[in-house]
Amino acid sequence: MIRLGRWQDVLADVDMVDAVICDPPYGAKTHDGHDVGIARTPGENGADTSVRRSINYSAWTADDVSEFVSSWAPRTRGWMACMTSHDLCVAYTDAMEAAGRYVFAPLPFFSPGSRVRLSGDGPSSWTCWIVVSRPRCEPFSKWGTLPGGYAGPSPSCEVVGGKPLWLMQAIVRDYTRAGDLVCDPFVGSGTTAVAALSEGRRFIGAEAMPEHHTIATRRLAAGFTPSMF
Ligand SMILES: C[S@@+](CC[C@H](N)C(=O)[O-])C[C@H]1O[C@@H](n2cnc3c(N)ncnc32)[C@H](O)[C@@H]1O
Repeated sequence: MIRLGRWQDVLADVDMVDAVICDPPYGAKTHDGHDVGIARTPGENGADTSVRRSINYSAWTADDVSEFVSSWAPRTRGWMACMTSHDLCVAYTDAMEAAGRYVFAPLPFFSPGSRVRLSGDGPSSWTCWIVVSRPRCEPFSKWGTLPGGYAGPSPSCEVVGGKPLWLMQAIVRDYTRAGDLVCDPFVGSGTTAVAALSEGRRFIGAEAMPEHHTIATRRLAAGFTPSMF
């Protein structure tokens, strides 16, 4: 269900999924800004005093976005919802349109209360973005009314950049139906997997880093206890 390895290798045999809901690496500006925040002495010149772990996976470029979308768009029967930083939104939009999909204006995920870090982007704006697209056909063109964004707390996670379970559950409910096969090729700590299974969907995904894969499989094996919600 969660395969260990790069999606390019370990999900190559997956012919078709109902939806791709994912949280790939963000752009270099976000990753670099995050690292600048770590390098500073806490409190120096008003610097961020919050504890921050470094990001242990590589940042993405527009070429990564293009490779990813061109591989998954033909294999995705329904919606694609990809979380990203503002600097890569245009790359996602262009790649999804090139694949013949209808692309919407990026939806914000707004998380008030995080420490403002005046470098990079990410938490300095309290917002990241979800680029959503659908095939140009029914039933996806008559899907219904959906939220124009998501807002709420972002609790700390075992994987840097991990997303809150409530958010991934809301996205799963909004863009898939019961029984659908949801794919997340960037599993991280497994939030999308837990969200999909807890909402009655099926799941397949990949994670390249063994330590993240271990966290995700442990989380799934632990079952859906009340504390996870
Ligand atoms: C932002 S994190 C995902 C966090 C996840 N949404 C969560 O809530 O924990 C991105 C993940 O993608 C993984 N990754 C990066 N490139 C990958 C690839 N080519 N194949 C599979 N996983 C990859 C990284 O190791 C990292 O765990």
